[in-house]
Amino acid sequence: MSEKTLNLPVDIARTLVSPQAYAGEAVLDAYRWMRAYNPLGVAAPEGFSPFWVVTKHADILQISRDNALFPSAVRPTTLTNIESEDRARALTGSPHLVRSLVQMDEPDHMKYRLLTQAWFMPANIKKREDEVRVLARRAAQEFIATGGRCDFVKDVALNYPLRVVMNVLGVPEEDFPRMLRLTQELFGASDPETERFKAALSNEQFFGLVMAVLQDFTDYFEKLTAERRAHPKDDLATLLSNAEIDGQPLPPFERTGYYTIIATAGHDTTSSSTAAAMWALATQPGLLERVRGDLSLVPALVEEAIRWATPVKTFMRSASADAELRGRTIRAGDWLMLCYASGNRDEEVFENPDAFDIDRTPNRQLAFGSGAHVCLGQHLARMEMRILFEELLPRVRSVQLAGEARYVESFFVSGLKSLPVAFEAA
Ligand code: HEM
Repeated sequence: MSEKTLNLPVDIARTLVSPQAYAGEAVLDAYRWMRAYNPLGVAAPEGFSPFWVVTKHADILQISRDNALFPSAVRPTTLTNIESEDRARALTGSPHLVRSLVQMDEPDHMKYRLLTQAWFMPANIKKREDEVRVLARRAAQEFIATGGRCDFVKDVALNYPLRVVMNVLGVPEEDFPRMLRLTQELFGASDPETERFKAALSNEQFFGLVMAVLQDFTDYFEKLTAERRAHPKDDLATLLSNAEIDGQPLPPFERTGYYTIIATAGHDTTSSSTAAAMWALATQPGLLERVRGDLSLVPALVEEAIRWATPVKTFMRSASADAELRGRTIRAGDWLMLCYASGNRDEEVFENPDAFDIDRTPNRQLAFGSGAHVCLGQHLARMEMRILFEELLPRVRSVQLAGEARYVESFFVSGLKSLPVAFEAA
């Protein structure tokens, strides 16, 4: 195999690590090119360690399902430049700033996952339907109360999933702004402004900043833990407060990591998917009337919105041993980028993949990943989106775009940042 055919062109490699490319069509164009001409190539963008770029649906599933061969803990689990990786290693002794489920491998991963897995299963989630419906009704009413013109992302899609996730976690509403600020400080890493700010800091200043945010998170959740131990409730905080691993309470670093992943994984992702569904309703003639007239179509709308948005763009893996894939040899220690948004537009699996089409049956979208790390919140995400549209659609007669849709610039979690719409209430 010549280097020439293995290595991806410089402009493609640059696109993959450019947050701006994810706010437009550029990354989708790059994915399309790679799927056609080099579906498993190596990118070596400046400032980053080289990584394999996995663009085909089948390959993403295969790698995600073989967690022993492709572990998550060894190298950064999210795309990280060399400088940030060095900083993380200096700070925590590992390539990660936090240790949550996504950064763990077996045997720890399953031990930790089992603490909450049953809670997230459909049978248990169903018990929260009424509470989620109250929040959905509130969101639908807030939408209508804007009087016929609003930014659907700012006015509905951002608030509602945050309220749902905080409700199941057990964080009271007055603390939501603090949670948002903390998660943005810790994870707003690929937002250009945050990036510029961080790049200007010395290593010491950066450590200080990260330590302060982590300490703030830890203090907050340790207080919540003490409260729930004294006064148990029916929420995830109570479950985590009393959880044990090998007969011992969770160590504080891991407990903070657990709270953090639940507090952060569930809102931007669900917001982006919710906004994508509204974008389709506003732009596709006849779709609103059709789904409003038959609410049993809502789950198909939700599933296609999740495929179309694919809000988690990438997760990374590494190889624990040499592996053969698509006739190429991945070496032990190599780093790999799983491009979920490319898998979800793979022409071999989805007919006319760039079209928003609620009639795909089955819809084999892989936005939640697969294998041991498959999204723990997938049933909750689907349920909360379904209930929102069940509440929203009967209240709306028509909806259309009323300005430019704009997208978040991030190579990790991205989607609609602004969706101006004009609507007529029913
Ligand atoms: C449309 C919405 C969502 C999408 C697209 C999404 C996507 C993903 C993806 C791609 C992964 C990683 C899979 C991997 O590494 O193989 C993941 C993991 C995870 N997600 Fe979600 N997610 C969504 C909503 C949620 C919600 C609502 C919650 C919880 C409140 C949640 C909690 C988690 C957790 C805890 C993990 C880690 C699982 C593990 O490593 O074992 N997610 N999600």
